[in-house]
Amino acid sequence: MSKIKTPLVIALEETLRPKTLSQFSGQSRIKQKLEIFIKATQKRKEALDHLLLYGPPGLGKTTLAHLIASEMGVSIRITSGPALERSGDLASILTNLKDHDILFIDEVHRLNKPVEESLYPAMEDFSLDIILGKGPSARTVRLDLPKFTIIAATTRIGLLSSPLRDRFGAIFRMDYYNNTDLAGIVERSARILKVPASNKICLQLAKRSRGTPRIANRILKRVRDFAQIKSKGIINEQVLEEALRILEIDPLGLDKMDRDLLTAVCLDHQGGPVGADTLAATVSEDVGTLESVIEPYLMKKGLLKRTKNGRVATEKAFKHLNLPLSV
Ligand SMILES: Nc1ncnc2c1ncn2[C@@H]1O[C@H](COP(=O)(O)OP(=O)(O)O)[C@@H](O)[C@H]1O
Ligand SMILES: [Mg+2]
Repeated sequence: MSKIKTPLVIALEETLRPKTLSQFSGQSRIKQKLEIFIKATQKRKEALDHLLLYGPPGLGKTTLAHLIASEMGVSIRITSGPALERSGDLASILTNLKDHDILFIDEVHRLNKPVEESLYPAMEDFSLDIILGKGPSARTVRLDLPKFTIIAATTRIGLLSSPLRDRFGAIFRMDYYNNTDLAGIVERSARILKVPASNKICLQLAKRSRGTPRIANRILKRVRDFAQIKSKGIINEQVLEEALRILEIDPLGLDKMDRDLLTAVCLDHQGGPVGADTLAATVSEDVGTLESVIEPYLMKKGLLKRTKNGRVATEKAFKHLNLPLSV
């Protein structure tokens, strides 16, 4: 389900991305801890402890990393697990950082083993062992690094090795947003995009956004297109409903993939239990996406359960899909 982002989508995300921690709605539990964490570190004039953010896509991990850098008044370098192919790539980035700078590593679960292992002493002792030359004449040189901070993000914390996980001073789990917080985000985005939308409409849109700011912003943008053509740019209930119908987003905010998955459990596997691998194959999705992107929201909504024998659809799922309980 990973979609390639077009330049237009990236540009939109940039304009809508909150610029200060106070513009960052929701996640109050994390924000509270972060504020203390940042203030205490600044008082001690130290680098922030390494930080790991995890949770489903679109909840604000990248945004939060940028905000932490701007609150700390330091620079941030962005990279990702798959982009760091060799230890040398990591070395050249780390040696170019300044004291207290932040290195953001997205998709950290995709780091390869040699790079991950060279990260251990870098995170712990701010040093890096580099091998110079080849064969018998090869020698190891220890490089001292600036006192930097790693902020890593992942959608799949379960894939992180424990030595890596243990090297983070703080680990924050991002959760789905409640409707009120999400409605606030939609209101802000609507203002930035200059689309007139009432608070009621913003709340309705939020309720259909899978608890996810990125999805809320995406729906808003699509609805804006409809409104431009059908209602002089103003988003009303009719335009919203029509856009949601075309986007195939249902009243619980589920998209087609969510419904396909639930239907597979309810119909093809008689409500379960069905193993994750079998289920992933039934809907032609990889098991990682199933576990980290699709299922968490269905479980949150009480539609799906994970049991030790596999996935089970709840009564609510059958009702939602308009299916009789005994199939
Ligand atoms: N708490 C928030 N308040 C306002 N907008 C947010 C918030 N979290 C995320 N967003 C919006 O959602 C988009 C996706 O967030 P992002 O940080 O890229 O998510 P992630 O890195 O977790 O996939 C951002 O461009 C931003 O506009
Ligand atoms: Mg991100």
